[in-house]
Amino acid sequence: MKEIEKAVNSKKLGEVEQKYFGRKKGLLNDVLKKLKDLSNQEKKKIGKLANQVKNELTQQIKEQKEILQKKQIEKSIQKQDLDITRPGKVAKSGRLSPLSKVQYELEDIFRSLGFVILDGPEMESDYYNFEALNIPADHPARDMQDTFYVKDQNNKLVLRTHTSPVQVRAMLEHGAPIRAVVPGRVFRYEALDASHENTFNQLEGIMIDENVSIANLIAVMKTLLKGIFKKPVKVRLRPGYFPFVEPGFELDINCLICGGRGCSVCKQTGWLELLPCGMIHPNVLKAGGIDSEKYSGFAFGLGLTRLVMMRYGIDDIRHINSADLRFVRQF
Ligand code: DAH
Repeated sequence: MKEIEKAVNSKKLGEVEQKYFGRKKGLLNDVLKKLKDLSNQEKKKIGKLANQVKNELTQQIKEQKEILQKKQIEKSIQKQDLDITRPGKVAKSGRLSPLSKVQYELEDIFRSLGFVILDGPEMESDYYNFEALNIPADHPARDMQDTFYVKDQNNKLVLRTHTSPVQVRAMLEHGAPIRAVVPGRVFRYEALDASHENTFNQLEGIMIDENVSIANLIAVMKTLLKGIFKKPVKVRLRPGYFPFVEPGFELDINCLICGGRGCSVCKQTGWLELLPCGMIHPNVLKAGGIDSEKYSGFAFGLGLTRLVMMRYGIDDIRHINSADLRFVRQF
């Protein structure tokens, strides 16, 4: 017990513990091991005593350990290498990618106009991606979109090439009247360069009701663009061909860089092509189970990735999905 008391650090205490309790050469263990050689009477007497000694020493070692630990902490505080007032480690916070930021802004604008936000599968059937949108097999319009076909039992699955398939899914699920936008990822078999990616984002929109006209289309598009660019934007419609709209348009905006006078960004035309749109084709309404005599509607397909690039002046589309923190931290 004196030896334990005199152990001034945990190393010394460990040595004392080893001396008496060590598995091979511990003095007390030795006594316990030899008990079996004694007579029954001695065994009783010495066994009892040995156990008592063992328990008392074990208890004292434990207490001495605690004393030494406390001393160690006090010493550290005195030496000031343990500062208990120091603040803990602050977790680094994440941030939204520019793509999500712009998407959420758009969602807010459309919600304020009474639109719902919908979602659809990224692996899509050939039917919804093409057929239901008035693009039958062998239609030349299929060549407009380089498609990833998925090998499955019937070879009837594709990675969706646009968000338009959700138009018909939405009609079937919710019927008319309906106002909905669908942000999402789409996929094309593209050769990659500064303006082509195999994975990018679009935002589809539809509004179907009685008496919906091109005037409504233009009004909603203008509201949308004003919300994005924070000022009124001049637009113009040109004819554009998409099998699922009739008539179909390309909506251009007055170039924001030069104000329409002509510059390198707008290729000296004063206009930027931004948003394909049109009045939903009766065949598409039909595929969606909607009476095309009673209802009409417009649709548009906003290139979300492209819009993000325009808004922040990002000159290479490959940055967007790169997951490079040096890129993301700039927004
Ligand atoms: N889905 C078309 C594409 O990705 C874009 C598009 C054009 C969507 C016209 C529309 C629309 O809703 O009306 O090329």
